[in-house]
Amino acid sequence: MSPAIGTTLDRVDGRAKVSGAARYTAELVLPGLVHAVLVGARVASGRIVSIDTGAAQRADGLIAVLTHLNLPKIPGTPKLLPSLAGMAAPGQSYFPMQDDVVHYAGQPVAIVVADTVERAEHAASLLRVDYEETPSKTTLDQVRDQAYEPERIFGGMLPGRFARGDVEAGLGQATAQVDVTYRFSANHQNPIEPSASTVVWDDVHRLTIYDSTQGPTATQLTVAALLGISPTQIKVVSEFVGGSFGSKAMIWPHVTLAALAARQVGRPVRLSLNREQMFHSCGHREEQEQHLTLGVDAEGRLTALRHHKLSITSHFDDWAETSLQSPGILYATPNYEGIYRIAKGNTITPTFMRGPGEATGIFALECAMDELAERIGVDPIELRLRNFADTDPTSGRPWSSNGIRECFQRGADLFGWAGRDPNPGTRRQGRTLIGWGVAASAYPHVAPPNPQRARARLYSDGSAVVEAGVSEFGTGVTTAMTQVAADGLGLPVERVRFIGGGSDLPNITAAVGSAGTGAVSAAVHLASTQLRDELVGRAVADAQSPLHGADPGAVSVEDGRMRLRDRPDVGETYAEMLSRQFTPDVEALGVWTPPPPDPGYGLHTFGAQFAEVAVDADLGLIRVRRMVGVFAPGRVLNRKTAHSQLMGGMLWGLSHALLEASQMDARLGRWANPSLGDYLIPVNSDVPDVVVETIEVTDTVVNPLGVKGVGEIGIVGSGAAIANAVHHATGRRVRHLPITVEDLL
Ligand code: MOS
Repeated sequence: MSPAIGTTLDRVDGRAKVSGAARYTAELVLPGLVHAVLVGARVASGRIVSIDTGAAQRADGLIAVLTHLNLPKIPGTPKLLPSLAGMAAPGQSYFPMQDDVVHYAGQPVAIVVADTVERAEHAASLLRVDYEETPSKTTLDQVRDQAYEPERIFGGMLPGRFARGDVEAGLGQATAQVDVTYRFSANHQNPIEPSASTVVWDDVHRLTIYDSTQGPTATQLTVAALLGISPTQIKVVSEFVGGSFGSKAMIWPHVTLAALAARQVGRPVRLSLNREQMFHSCGHREEQEQHLTLGVDAEGRLTALRHHKLSITSHFDDWAETSLQSPGILYATPNYEGIYRIAKGNTITPTFMRGPGEATGIFALECAMDELAERIGVDPIELRLRNFADTDPTSGRPWSSNGIRECFQRGADLFGWAGRDPNPGTRRQGRTLIGWGVAASAYPHVAPPNPQRARARLYSDGSAVVEAGVSEFGTGVTTAMTQVAADGLGLPVERVRFIGGGSDLPNITAAVGSAGTGAVSAAVHLASTQLRDELVGRAVADAQSPLHGADPGAVSVEDGRMRLRDRPDVGETYAEMLSRQFTPDVEALGVWTPPPPDPGYGLHTFGAQFAEVAVDADLGLIRVRRMVGVFAPGRVLNRKTAHSQLMGGMLWGLSHALLEASQMDARLGRWANPSLGDYLIPVNSDVPDVVVETIEVTDTVVNPLGVKGVGEIGIVGSGAAIANAVHHATGRRVRHLPITVEDLL
């Protein structure tokens, strides 16, 4: 029996998803279900003066109109912590509908409940809310003069400033510099399935929340904290999630509001956000700019790197996406300074978005490196090779695994980089300008701070079920965990069923920051190998077993049959043994303790990105013709799902570079394009064939299987490779995203 890990097993949930058998949160049918609709504030700053509910109250099918005047106050205080901390993780430390104050457009001001969703929407449209509006500030330009340096960011988990050496002295030694600022539009994650919660209070006051979430346990703990009840009273179920990309990493207020509404009306309640509400209700990648100063000596070695990020955040939280981690360790410069500055505006607290932070941070750094390479006349790959940090420059410690040089080597071969003409704007095919660009990719390896658990149970028919609370939002984790458990137990994948997506299952941290698969695979591996060891132990201790008295270390399991390694004819199946022993099932709990914050190694994932673009010389239209990405994500559990994740990330980098922008209407303080018609994303005809490869690196530090994750790394650097290719094609350096036709006219 060959190992299941590393094969291209099809998605075990694929048939259910494509046939419509999979039930998403907003599709669940429950007896007595009623429908809640959120009403968001029309203004971005001010006070509610009056709410006229009369017409809404008279609407057909109406059950309740809840506002700050009649909704019970929440007893808990939200405290912002990222969900990977494993604790309660509200998206912001402000909870709406507690008073008449409005801090941002779309902030919930009322909940309308009716018997059907259409009637709830109609009644909500009849609600008249009057505001006393005060001036709002919603763009970076409006608030930049009030920017400050926060002591800590990321819910207090990271400092607001990082430094080593002396940047001024390093710049003094430089023979060439670049000093550039890159600007980034705000972005929204836009998963296909909008957030939804279906909430049921039962007779014994236990709350069941069906929720579209990246972290069922985070949802349970957050709602418990906000409602002031015990987590034992809350069960969260999240079986299928239709994408998330960070928008469902934190537990936003609508979930708890749905629970409050359900308690209030005494019926099961469904609350679905519509597409427009998704732009106002679950964070976004904040509008930001990044200022980089790079100094280089005559040998092309970086003498200094200064990286300052300025972004707009909410009035409540010092949140900025952490953009400085990967750029701070990619290159071995001894002199480095990274500083976050933020300014408060009238927005919801920003949040994670795929490749959180590092996607913009590496974009800025890798474009600046391209500018530097051009300035000093060195090939962009050669400049990087001279500067890659071969040990973690923050600690001097070795990397647990790296592989970036091999990624560049392989990528350059696949792409054919060697033939590149260094001069920009020189390759023409008719009216089309052709350009090639390259960028490094990097993402921190995030270890959850707390133990991760999974449970494996083998039944006497020889089939196994393995459970952990991880959420499946399209990554393929259910499939990969089936493979991990099959190998751990010595079973074929058909005899293993993996169940995730619930807070009653063994606790796994919310799947964020590419940490999900590493964490859950570690726990599943431990649970399944411990269960195998226990079963083998039962066999060698059983006088009636052919394996009686054998050394357990001399027994292996193949296809559900335990046998002596050197005499495969001697043995018996799990099923034979358990039936004889009158044992219906055997179970093991795997508990994985992640590496400590300082494990003696630098933990990071690396890759290399290449792109070819064709730019219409007259019209400025950019087509991406080719993309090559080579990554070193450690052990690949499922080649197909990992490839898809990496490709999806790379294409999102294309989208980030050329299309996506959440446009703020500063006059209204609202997003101006909150729909999939107006928020541009690529379609199939916009994207080229994408070559994705992984190179093998063995990592014995990060977790038992050496999994470093593939969720984020694909997007990091792919936008920079495209932007650098646009420069190479046209000679124009566009220092803001997205790069559009207008920039190239
Ligand atoms: Mo992921 S964007 O860290 O939820």
